[in-house]
Formats: sequence, structure tokens, C-alpha cells
Amino acid sequence: MATITLDKIEKNYGAVKAIHGIDLEIKDGEFVALVGPSGCGKSTLLRMVAGLEDITGGRLLIGDKVVNSVEPRDRDIAMVFQDYALYPHMSVADNIGFGLKMRKVSEADRKSLIAEAAQMLQIEKLLDRRPAELSGGQRQRVAMGRAIVRRPSAFLFDEPLSNLDAKLRVEMRTEIKRLHGLLGRTTIYVTHDQVEALTLADRVVILKDGRILQEGPPLTLYERPATRFVAEFIGSPQMNMFDGVVRQAAEGSFVEIDGLRLPFKRIDAQDGQKVHLGARPEAIGLCLAEVSDFVSQVEVFEPLGSDTMVSARIAGAMAVVRLSPEDPVARGMDLPLQFDRMKLHVFDAATGDRIETDSTS
Ligand SMILES: Nc1ncnc2c1ncn2[C@@H]1O[C@H](COP(=O)(O)OP(=O)(O)OP(=O)(O)O)[C@@H](O)[C@H]1O
Ligand SMILES: [Mg+2]
Repeated sequence: MATITLDKIEKNYGAVKAIHGIDLEIKDGEFVALVGPSGCGKSTLLRMVAGLEDITGGRLLIGDKVVNSVEPRDRDIAMVFQDYALYPHMSVADNIGFGLKMRKVSEADRKSLIAEAAQMLQIEKLLDRRPAELSGGQRQRVAMGRAIVRRPSAFLFDEPLSNLDAKLRVEMRTEIKRLHGLLGRTTIYVTHDQVEALTLADRVVILKDGRILQEGPPLTLYERPATRFVAEFIGSPQMNMFDGVVRQAAEGSFVEIDGLRLPFKRIDAQDGQKVHLGARPEAIGLCLAEVSDFVSQVEVFEPLGSDTMVSARIAGAMAVVRLSPEDPVARGMDLPLQFDRMKLHVFDAATGDRIETDSTS
């Protein structure tokens, strides 16, 4: 069983506090992605789980055993790094089997484990080559093969796809997801690419400055971001933000932006408080009714085939709107637009915290 439990984990590098007391419980077989901006502590956290970095404070448990001072090789965990770290003078087969050889696994067993991993990764034909004779994606597969043959109870990945081009990244992403389905091992996956995190993980943990900002299933983070930071970090193109003011009236709470009054079930704020109104590109659409929320001129439009992305000035801010490819759009055209009232977010302008209660319930 490989549950991984972080109990008030802290890390100091000298006077620098990199991780500020993180609590996180990862279930057996769960795929968790750690995301956040550069320097937020993702690698530090992963390296502490792997045993490559000392833990300053708190407890790390694998299963029900505290492993703070257990050597990396005794943690039954395999790590895949960004730069693959393959041995250039060894064949693919020897690279994959190197860890097994160090553990004194017999040659016959090594052979069969290597063959099995190579088949799983579809690199059987490459076993005699050297790393220099492989493409980036093939090298990445070899690095994964080396992790797989050890049959660890957990996998740790630190930005394993960031050296690959966009197309290969998408292919290897599918590959990692397929392998997780096949092996069902506990996985922690570090990335700064929110799309990778959302598409791969059962649960996404967003870190900033060594703290967890929010964690949850991908859709929950997308639909109910707890702060403006999370709202803008998750989703591409990013959520549009408009300056607004709260109005509390007998009939309910409203947000006013540029003279437009939008109703909400409840907003926990004083009348007159400044807020940011968030609307994802798909929360703004063409208005078919007679009176639209606003009329905006199309400044840029990008037909992507599946959607058409339109940039237009709304309430004083440049906004991106996701329209259907059937919608008639041209540069310079005046578009009547409206907000989808069920898909708006309100954040306190000062703290960035979400302050409206669920508008859909
Ligand atoms: N060996 C070290 N000595 C001192 N400070 C360090 C060391 N390693 C990391 N740090 C600091 O700890 C913080 C977290 O670093 P970490 O490498 O975990 O970030 P990260 O989230 O993985 O970033 P990136 O996305 O750029 O890889 C940073 O402020 C970094 O400067
Ligand atoms: Mg890192």
C-alpha cells in the first residue's frame, strides 16, 4: 500500500523558508499533480518525498511508516526527471536495467523485466541503441522504462515533458495517463503547465510561495476557484477580469461594472466594496435578445476550427470571448454580447478571495 502523507512538512534552505507546513494526503493509486509558478516549491516538495532533500519539519509517511530518515533507495519510489539523466555510453536496454543490476537482480529476471517495460512503452525495437540515437520522446520513454522496471509502489515525476515540443508533449501526456491506468500506482506529478495538470490528475494541488492555495478535482478548480490567483492560473485563455463595485439592495446582491448591474444570490461584502468580476471566455456569448449587456467592437478574431476566439474591449478592459465557428464574426464588427449569469465569479479586489456564494444553487 502506498498512501503518501505529508504532515506539516516544512523546508528551510538556510534562512530561506521554501515550504511552510504542508498537509497533504495522497491515496493509494491516486494521481496528484502539483502545479504553481516557478519557485513555489514543487521540486523541493517532490525531492523531500523521494528522500533527495532533508525535511526540516513535519512528518512524511509512506503507508503508515514515517520515512523522514529512510534512505531514498529504501522508499520503494521511482522518480522521473526533466532531463532524463540517461547514461550516454550504455544501450537503451542497459539504461533501463541499470537499477536492477545494482540491486543484484539476476540477468534472466532483468531481461524479462526490461522486455516487459519496453513492450509497455513500445520501444522494443530501440533496445540496442544509445541515447544519442534517440528522439526526445524516445529518451523520455527510456527514462520511464527505468522507473517502471523497478515496480515501485509510487512514481514521482518532475516536469518530465518540458523538454519536448508541443506535439510530443501531448502524445507523451496520453502515454503517462495510459501507464497510470495500466499500473495503477500512486503518482505525484510536478508541472507548471496547468493544462497538463488538469488533463492528467485525479486531483490538482496549487502551490504558491511554499503553501497550498487550493486543491481539488480539476473541474472543481476550474469552476470554483477560491481566489483570483487560482482563477487566472487555471484555464486557457485565462479568465477575464473586470473592475466592479458591490451593490447591496433589498432584492439581493449585485455587481456593477460600467453601469451594468448583474444579480448574484449573495455576496459577502459591504455595499460599495470594490471587486473583480471574473468571466471565462465561454461565459461571454453573442446576445440573441433585443437588449445586450454591451456592444463591443471585434479587435482580433482567431478562427480555430472548433471555436472562434474574439478579442474585444468590454467595460474598459480587453477581454477574450469564445464563440462558435458558426457565429458570423469579422474584424471591426460590432458584437452584441452578454454574460452567462451562471458562470460569473466575484473576487474581493483587496484580498483576491472569492466572495460570492454559489450562484447556481
Ligand atoms: N538548494 C537550494 N538552496 C537554496 N534555495 C533553494 C535551493 N533549492 C531551491 N531553493 C529555493 O526554494 C524555493 C523553491 O524552489 P523549487 O525548486 O522547489 O521551485 P519549483 O516550484 O520547482 O520551481 P520551477 O518551476 O522553477 O522548477 C525557491 O525560492 C528556490 O530559490
Ligand atoms: Mg522545479
